[in-house]
Amino acid sequence: MLAMVDRIPRQGMDKQLVLEQMKAYGEGDADWRSGRTWSLVYDAGDEHIAFLKQAHNTYFSENALNPMAFKSLRRMESEVVRMSATLFNGDENVVGTMTSGGTESILCAVYAYRERARKKKPWIRRPEIVAPKTLHVAFDKAAHYFGIRMRYTGVDDQGRADVKEMENLIGRNTILVAASAPQYPHGVVDPIAEIGAICAKKKVPFHVDACFGGFILPWIERLGGTFGPFDFRVPGVTSLSADLHKYGYAAKGASVLLYRSMDDMKNQFFVATDWPGGIYASPTVAGTRPGGPIAAAWAALVSLGEEGYLQRAKEAWDAAKHLASGIKEIDGLAIVAEPDCTVVAWMAAEGGPDVYAVADAMEARGWNIDRQQDPPSVHCTVNWKQAPVIDTYLSDLRTCVAEVRSNPKASSEGQAPMYGMMAKMPVRGLVKNGVVKVLESIYGAKQVDDPTAAASGGDGFVDKLVAKYGDQAMAILDKADNVRKRLRRKK
Ligand SMILES: Cc1ncc(COP(=O)(O)O)c(C=O)c1O
Repeated sequence: MLAMVDRIPRQGMDKQLVLEQMKAYGEGDADWRSGRTWSLVYDAGDEHIAFLKQAHNTYFSENALNPMAFKSLRRMESEVVRMSATLFNGDENVVGTMTSGGTESILCAVYAYRERARKKKPWIRRPEIVAPKTLHVAFDKAAHYFGIRMRYTGVDDQGRADVKEMENLIGRNTILVAASAPQYPHGVVDPIAEIGAICAKKKVPFHVDACFGGFILPWIERLGGTFGPFDFRVPGVTSLSADLHKYGYAAKGASVLLYRSMDDMKNQFFVATDWPGGIYASPTVAGTRPGGPIAAAWAALVSLGEEGYLQRAKEAWDAAKHLASGIKEIDGLAIVAEPDCTVVAWMAAEGGPDVYAVADAMEARGWNIDRQQDPPSVHCTVNWKQAPVIDTYLSDLRTCVAEVRSNPKASSEGQAPMYGMMAKMPVRGLVKNGVVKVLESIYGAKQVDDPTAAASGGDGFVDKLVAKYGDQAMAILDKADNVRKRLRRKK
């Protein structure tokens, strides 16, 4: 490992060396260029990336904090908002802002609706958001930041929101209802039209989180997707977020947050009038707002055009369908839900292998794996650039399943026991403490080679437990997990 740089060098380093050192730092990174990483990077192709860099660099130094000083950025931001409003079937009254990503869009929306409730329903002491449990965790984060309670509802066997349960949970403390188009874990679109009708009837705001798939669903819909209207066509929808830095193939740091009306959006604005530094007004969470991502997002939309997006969406969707049908043919595996778009999540079929052990085996073959829980599964976000690797993935997966099935110890080796236990541990506080320990070791003063070791007690606690009690420990956790699920279903 290269020595840690722990102070600014007295003399600046040679720029060529700096670039080489940066490159060396990246040697162990996820290999997204080969298509072996299923999320985090939405590869738009070399040519498009080179163009985005040019667009980004053209506005590298500009700052949208002051839209009067940089009218260029204001214009590009409002054109991105208008293009998005049109894409999501909004009328001319739809307004919006760009943010740095899905989480900031969601933070802004949740904050705006809390402020709205404070004005319109000042009697609410414990504001609540009603949403299916598959809603992106950024809402949980926003609720945590802004003192709001999440009221989660169940989902059907395909992962779609249980509309009846949502309706029943909407009450006098509800400040917002939220659902996804699509949800991240399994890629299915919630019944937006039905939820919208309830929200319109009950007069509660309804936010559609289209952060993940907002810039691919409209194209899949044109190609024959049958998930129904998910945007401003649904009268009860009051706002929608969609990330440009995902399937919008823009540079990182770009999302758009749209409201049906300025009446709701204005609650998002922050204005301070008495600061010695002057009157300060800010539309989103960020203060300084980098010009690069705004410029690159604008450039992505106008340069790819409908044709470019449609073609990429078709290739990604075809690849996802190919992946899903290939997985269904592997004995012992099943897909969690029939995907509405380009996510495929696979799990063990009845009597199938330990998913986390298969995940470990796939990782050993150089695939970057996203493990999920409830049910234990693996998430694949499929991109158009991954079409050429689908067959290799399927063949590796088949081999790994066979390998795990022939090795009775597979579940107690590698990372499988840790993930297995974390998914099933009935005392969730213990899991949380373990994960906080991982964060402490990632962001601690000393660099550690394997921060995830901290999650299992740092001293190999899980390994010791598994070595001592073996399958018994897992069987007990399985039972506890089943009880927990039954209790949750009854609630
Ligand atoms: C449905 C959904 N909403 C919100 C987010 C958060 O987006 P970001 O990671 O850009 O903050 C994601 C990220 O994957 C997502 O899938």
